[in-house]
Amino acid sequence: MTTPYSSDKAFLHADRIKRLLGGEITPPVTMDLWLTGRCNQACKWCVRETYRAGGQGDLPWLALERLIKDSAGMGLRGVVFSGGEPTIYQSDGHGLIDAMLLCTSYGLDVGLITNGAALGPLIPKFDDFNLLKLKFVRVSLDAGTSKTYAALHTVPDTAFKIVLDNLFKLMLECPPDCSIGISYVVTNDNWREIPQAIAIAADVGLDTVLFRTDVGRGDAHPGLPRVASVLLEQEAAKHPEIAIANRIEEPPPGSAPACRATPLVAVVSPDAKLNVCCSLAGRPEYQWGDLRTERFKELWGCQRHQDILAKLAEAPCPATCRMIGYNKAIQAVKEDSIHQNIL
Ligand SMILES: C[S@@+](CC[C@H](N)C(=O)[O-])C[C@H]1O[C@@H](n2cnc3c(N)ncnc32)[C@H](O)[C@@H]1O
Ligand code: SF4
Repeated sequence: MTTPYSSDKAFLHADRIKRLLGGEITPPVTMDLWLTGRCNQACKWCVRETYRAGGQGDLPWLALERLIKDSAGMGLRGVVFSGGEPTIYQSDGHGLIDAMLLCTSYGLDVGLITNGAALGPLIPKFDDFNLLKLKFVRVSLDAGTSKTYAALHTVPDTAFKIVLDNLFKLMLECPPDCSIGISYVVTNDNWREIPQAIAIAADVGLDTVLFRTDVGRGDAHPGLPRVASVLLEQEAAKHPEIAIANRIEEPPPGSAPACRATPLVAVVSPDAKLNVCCSLAGRPEYQWGDLRTERFKELWGCQRHQDILAKLAEAPCPATCRMIGYNKAIQAVKEDSIHQNIL
């Protein structure tokens, strides 16, 4: 296991995987928590466009407090804050730092996915009293120049420099064991800037870079994944010090495992609903509950959750899904294609 993007870590949760294979719905290891549907940017490809356009507000603080208490009590280990834009979260006078400290008070690890534009004032607080078990901050950069960044994130040309400055500040001020990285959605419009983005990561001294396809619009040129992947591998070879993950190309047809891993990650949207996984989030047929009025411990594993999982079990995990590595690991254990008793 060499990088945070390796799915090998599934085996560290072998107990839960065995329970899943036995037909149980285990408590989640991680929670993806979308604190708000609001955002200060408007990326061309944003998968959360319906949340943003629907004017969805912020997860109520009271519901958040109860959710963290319940889920930590059930065995949750970490929370990844996302959105909308989590750095602009506000509810009852509480912001992102309060939400992070709440998680830390229950011993949970914390990660942050952000566009980085409003990070500046928050960064000095990341090291407060060494309370935050902040494991990673990932800034969605998606470009190598200010012009392309402005066009794709629909922001002024000046925004790119602000985000780069914030990346520098993160490197200087975050706890040393916190990984700082960028992500890059590769499209027809920005693939040529892959070398610049990797050069920026090297200049700033970042730990990780994640490249992936646009999972929403499906308008990529058919040759894009191969061309972008070759360019990326060439540039990555020059920077072995950075953990660069290539999730641009899809595996060959027929290799998709069954979808079994979703209970390992709970996904909570800003409308206080549970979603069976991040790829299917926002689709009413894959959502349940209302955390403003219902408790997580009652909703997790309820009949509706079981029915959704039964529906999913028939479908292969799409190649673009972040859970695919975990689904492959579970399949390997189920079929014993790895000969688990022979080391
Ligand atoms: C929805 S955003 C929310 C957090 C924050 N606003 C940000 O952009 O980092 C979370 C991640 O999803 C990625 N994302 C959004 N739309 C996508 C798409 N169509 N395909 C792949 N990734 C996408 C963003 O680039 C970002 O890294
Ligand atoms: S910054 Fe994040 S939430 Fe905002 S539009 Fe871009 S991808 Fe969507």
